[in-house]
Amino acid sequence: MKVFVLGGDGFCGWPTSLHLSNLGHDITIIDNLSRRNIDNELEAGSLTPIQPMGKRLAAWKQTTGHTITYERLDIATNYHRLLTLIQDERPDAIIHFAEQRAAPYSMKSSAHKRYTVNNNLNATHNTLAAIVEANTNTHLIHLGTMGVYGYGTAGMKIPEGYLPIEVTTDQGTKVQQEILYPPNPGSIYHLTKTQDQLFFAYYAKNDRLRITDLHQGIVWGTNTPDTLKDERLINRFDYDGDYGTVLNRFLMQAAVDYPLTVHGTGGQTRAFIHIRDTVRCLQLALENPPDNGERVKILNQMTETHRVRDLAQIVSDITGATIEHTPNPRKEDAENELHVKNDLFLDLGLEPTTLQQGLLEEVTTIAKKYAQRADLDKIPCTSTWTREQQAGTPHTAKKTPETA
Ligand SMILES: NC(=O)c1ccc[n+]([C@@H]2O[C@H](COP(=O)([O-])OP(=O)(O)OC[C@H]3O[C@@H](n4cnc5c(N)ncnc54)[C@H](O)[C@@H]3O)[C@@H](O)[C@H]2O)c1
Repeated sequence: MKVFVLGGDGFCGWPTSLHLSNLGHDITIIDNLSRRNIDNELEAGSLTPIQPMGKRLAAWKQTTGHTITYERLDIATNYHRLLTLIQDERPDAIIHFAEQRAAPYSMKSSAHKRYTVNNNLNATHNTLAAIVEANTNTHLIHLGTMGVYGYGTAGMKIPEGYLPIEVTTDQGTKVQQEILYPPNPGSIYHLTKTQDQLFFAYYAKNDRLRITDLHQGIVWGTNTPDTLKDERLINRFDYDGDYGTVLNRFLMQAAVDYPLTVHGTGGQTRAFIHIRDTVRCLQLALENPPDNGERVKILNQMTETHRVRDLAQIVSDITGATIEHTPNPRKEDAENELHVKNDLFLDLGLEPTTLQQGLLEEVTTIAKKYAQRADLDKIPCTSTWTREQQAGTPHTAKKTPETA
């Protein structure tokens, strides 16, 4: 298949591009390198020495014989270039990773909030409008987040996108329906993903576009079999307070003898997936598109849930690292339960890579190998969610009925 990978220079997009290229798909990466520019802004960088795009692609060609093409393009602002590419190439599928993806970054200031909203909403909407204007039957696969659901339920498992409801009409008849699960975003970044869902619902209904939305958990790990083929293919590894995700941060902190920074009580439960499973899920989504006229196909792309303090304990048990509790910069419940359905990917054949499978050591080995590149000053999370926190009076998490 001819596949565009929007955001193909990023943490998830790069290994996905390699995986699909290795399977024989014709891959074009579209990326404006904004993530690399944000590294410059934050004066932080990938722990692993990621190569410039030209070197990455040359190494891939040299190692495997496969060609991946690349277009440097801002899809949020350069609609006409995106449209022309879709008109000329008529891709079978577009995989859309190209959004500002860090919740802490999105909360840094009003400028960061506005950038995240403008970038993410325009990136998604331009892609949808361009597929319609180009009049192709392109399958759009988008990376959403488990965070659209919020982090708590009325005690049932979070379903895959749709909530069955029953309403009573004025005549007293009971009517059953399925609606989009009520969004409950916890940051401006998550807010953009909840808005993306409405764009998708509208375009699937109005224009009969084929759309898959993957509600992904927190991705951990760094290597896939493809990125291991040559050091120049190495994937990025974020450990800083804005872009580093919790488990990779803990593993890196352990590798450089930095106490594991648990926010608040560490009672937050989150969903996780290994990067190797991310690329397999993208393959499965590509191979199993919805039909035209079908509602948006929503799948929960996660394999397990863990409490943050339990993760810290697992990493501490393996590595001997100490644990330090720091004030939680987010506005969220101190403790939450999270039970999630992920039957759709399991039914398609996903065999989950779990924390237990030795890959924790692999990540620690990578982190140790490149430890001299780490800037320890970048580890603390300095972004805060509320004006009170910015003024130095920490927000005290309110207990909700389900966590009380
Ligand atoms: N990493 C995770 O743990 C995680 C978890 C859940 C969901 N996701 C979602 O998966 C997607 C990819 O995440 P990631 O970790 O690879 O992020 P990333 O920041 O590493 O990659 C995103 C890529 O998109 C590019 N990009 C951003 N805006 C663009 C624009 N306007 N035009 C062209 N390119 C643009 C960036 O330069 C970057 O290379 C995101 O949408 C994110 O929300 C990621």
